[in-house]
Amino acid sequence: MILVTGGAGYIGSHTVINLLDAGYDIVVFDNLETGHIETIETLKQIGNIKFLKGDLRNIDDINKVFETYDIDVVVHFAAFSLVGESVVNPLKYYRNNTFGTLNLLESMINHDVKKIVFSSTCATYGEPEYTPIDEKHPQNPINAYGASKLMIERMMKDFDAAYGLKSIKLRYFNVAGCDKLSRVGEWHDPETHLIPNILKSTFGTGQTFKIFGDDYDTPDGTCIRDYVNVEDLAQAHRLALEYLNRENKSDVFNLGTEKGDSVKTVFNVCEQVLNKKIPVEVVERRPGDPAKLYADAGKAKSILKWQPERNIENSISSAYKWECRLQSKENAHV
Ligand code: UFG
Repeated sequence: MILVTGGAGYIGSHTVINLLDAGYDIVVFDNLETGHIETIETLKQIGNIKFLKGDLRNIDDINKVFETYDIDVVVHFAAFSLVGESVVNPLKYYRNNTFGTLNLLESMINHDVKKIVFSSTCATYGEPEYTPIDEKHPQNPINAYGASKLMIERMMKDFDAAYGLKSIKLRYFNVAGCDKLSRVGEWHDPETHLIPNILKSTFGTGQTFKIFGDDYDTPDGTCIRDYVNVEDLAQAHRLALEYLNRENKSDVFNLGTEKGDSVKTVFNVCEQVLNKKIPVEVVERRPGDPAKLYADAGKAKSILKWQPERNIENSISSAYKWECRLQSKENAHV
């Protein structure tokens, strides 16, 4: 069986669907602090998953999973992932992400489970020295979120050398879009990400979308990011897992489209896809935002045979369908 930690969250739930479609048996472990029980209920309707509520900060919780189920491999998402929050509350990030993963790895070793696919991030690179960013780019994170994940990468390297624990580290760029059938989606509270924030401004709540700075050293002055579709990302996890099972060796891959889009471009595409005017204003820069990040994902393409299939328009339209569902859910609760 495959253990998916954080399977009630955004990327985790999409990966669970991909793995269920491929016929795998899944156990989801999640503390439901940022994940949602409704997501677990939806996943249970899609396929045969087991769910255990627990917290990685408590090693007894994770030991119970390995004692109860016959786990061969782990796909590890469970983490906090808000860059801004990590700067003001680094303790929370090192405790949950780094220490929680240490518990997970310890429990894996004690139960003789030696394979893990890990959700890392391009935030481990820090301020780019060059673009596109490949896996050899120096890793100098500029916030506690990136640092908490970089420490995990380092633990995995040492645990491979000492205990033979094999890991695939996947460094994602900006994840976008939702399940094409809107069964699961991006559901953060508070929401800080670009595309859901643009879409939320279209619902007549009086909220104006805010562009964080238009004086960056980029062609239109707004930040450039590489928006990779979440279903493409889920597929990359399956390919990484199968590669790990086949080759039994550790490696690291960037996951991005290799194409950079500016905030203004994404905003314009949203207006086109939705065919409506969206209220917008330019405000101050958000601290800690690098001007330009996009991936060299050639290694994932050549070794994992991964090919992103969905473009930014696809991501925006699936995100919009999901956002409509979320809005109707919220209105139903009023
Ligand atoms: N932005 C706006 N207005 C908003 C929200 C975002 O202008 O309301 C801008 C940001 O300033 C940034 C771009 O849109 O330039 C993308 O911002 P996101 O918050 O969507 O994503 P980030 O690039 O900040 O962060 C993402 C992931 C992190 C990961 C990071 C790596 O969410 O988990 O990429 O840099 F660490």
